[in-house]
Amino acid sequence: MSTTEDIIGRADVNDLEAILGVTNTDVNELVHHVKDNADCIFTWDYEKGRRPALNKLYEKAKTSQWNGQTDLPWDTEVDQEAVVIANAEANGMLAGGVDLSGTVFEKWDEKQWLELGIESQNWMLSQFMHGEQGALVCTAKIVETVPWIDAKYYASTQVMDEARHVEVFAQYLDTKLSGHYPINAHLKMLLDDIIEDSRWDMTYLGMQIMVEGLALAAFGFIHMMTQEPLLKQLLRYVMSDEARHVAFGVLSLKEYYEGLDIDEIRERQEFAFEAAVRMRDRLLQQEVWERMGIDSKEAVQAVMLSPERQMFQQMLFSKIVPNCKKLGLLDAGDGWLRQKFGEIGVIQFEDWTDTGDEYETFALSDEELKTAS
Ligand SMILES: [Fe+2]
Ligand SMILES: [Fe+2]
Repeated sequence: MSTTEDIIGRADVNDLEAILGVTNTDVNELVHHVKDNADCIFTWDYEKGRRPALNKLYEKAKTSQWNGQTDLPWDTEVDQEAVVIANAEANGMLAGGVDLSGTVFEKWDEKQWLELGIESQNWMLSQFMHGEQGALVCTAKIVETVPWIDAKYYASTQVMDEARHVEVFAQYLDTKLSGHYPINAHLKMLLDDIIEDSRWDMTYLGMQIMVEGLALAAFGFIHMMTQEPLLKQLLRYVMSDEARHVAFGVLSLKEYYEGLDIDEIRERQEFAFEAAVRMRDRLLQQEVWERMGIDSKEAVQAVMLSPERQMFQQMLFSKIVPNCKKLGLLDAGDGWLRQKFGEIGVIQFEDWTDTGDEYETFALSDEELKTAS
């Protein structure tokens, strides 16, 4: 059994200096190589529908495809400054009610707050784009490694979905915002770990359950907050796909985990915890503070004073925790993951809706899909 230090590289999950000490040192690299250690598996069992829930998901995916070029209103004029001002309430720092005296923000004027809002948006959308490429690559890996034909079929539709997601986020960044950020070091570490793992189910756990579970919650939050019509519609369409992807993870792992012994389950619990910490660490947006020339540690300490900010960070785990519970990961063994999720302050979501069939409520209507043919 591993210690916290073995799993995440530090003994204290909240050790700010250790978190901020991990940075992306290859910001100028154009390609990034990762060793993919998994076996490619063929199956000669072609019986379609042996796993009815996966088959249903596959059939649903085939009729839910949309086109990132023709189904979104790309001619929308986006005034990023106006959007940032309108979203100011959504930014925990600007929500008011927090005493900033004695912090790096004490003497900030409106112009600096606006710059922070703009940089934060560029950073966030950039990380979404990088995460979507992670999903594209991981799901292509699942096509190769999963032994079930219904899962290979479904995963192939997700590969197409993820290509579309990378495409639309990249286009939004290029044509509507004002700059890109390289991938965050913590997100990069997590994606590398997922790809390097030789066990096919770990790709699902890292990507479909953890990364996509967080993405679904994050997109939902921003979709609700933003009044910018293009981004709102883009997120609506992406979320309708993401809800299927998370369901794919839940449905596949539910079956597979039933056949694992307690030691194997413990390894999955530890991986889920590692992924949760990496994603939590990345939310500190250290690259934004660096670009703005502000001390990251002081900035993060001040930001975390805001209750809205803390709530936002916790809310991002509102899909992950119930899904881990549904998979039996929270309480297996001695309830190790329940305790760990308690330590990082997210266990309160355990009884929220899991995403096993929530995709039906996120599905695009016939009206929304009418141009998608
Ligand atoms: Fe995606
Ligand atoms: Fe996805």
